[in-house]
Amino acid sequence: MTRAAQSKRRATRSVSLSWLGLLCAAGCAAGLPRPTDQHVSVARLSDPSVSLADLSRGRTLYVERCGSCHALRDPASLPPPEWKHELDEMETKQGVRLEAADSRDILRYLSAVSDVARP
Ligand code: HEC
Repeated sequence: MTRAAQSKRRATRSVSLSWLGLLCAAGCAAGLPRPTDQHVSVARLSDPSVSLADLSRGRTLYVERCGSCHALRDPASLPPPEWKHELDEMETKQGVRLEAADSRDILRYLSAVSDVARP
């Protein structure tokens, strides 16, 4: 292969990889469950003040605040206490700064989806 062909091939590959990254970022967020009344009922078992709006806000914040350093993890992949632990770790070890109300709603969203999805 000529030098020009090689460098063209490299360029094409890096372009398609960055496209994959973009598609995944958009695709992963689109695949995240949207909160429903069922999630609200489950969340209210531990906190009667939770509303659908709180859970939707939690989902939006999760996408905005948690997807910049690594892929978003499926909420159902961890039980609620571990989500609490991971959120604490992001704040104490990874320097992620969240307002108390924001981490509360992210945790509400992740826990509700996890509780509904896990047997
Ligand atoms: C500043 C960059 C950064 C941001 C923003 C961030 N994280 Fe992380 N996260 C990391 C790093 C680095 C690791 C890997 C280190 C580790 O596992 O302790 C990690 C690991 C994790 C893990 C464990 C991953 C696994 O597969 O084992 C979870 C869960 C997690 N983050 C959740 C979150 C959540 C929820 C948020 C939003 C509040 C968040 N992260 C935002 C940097 C970040």
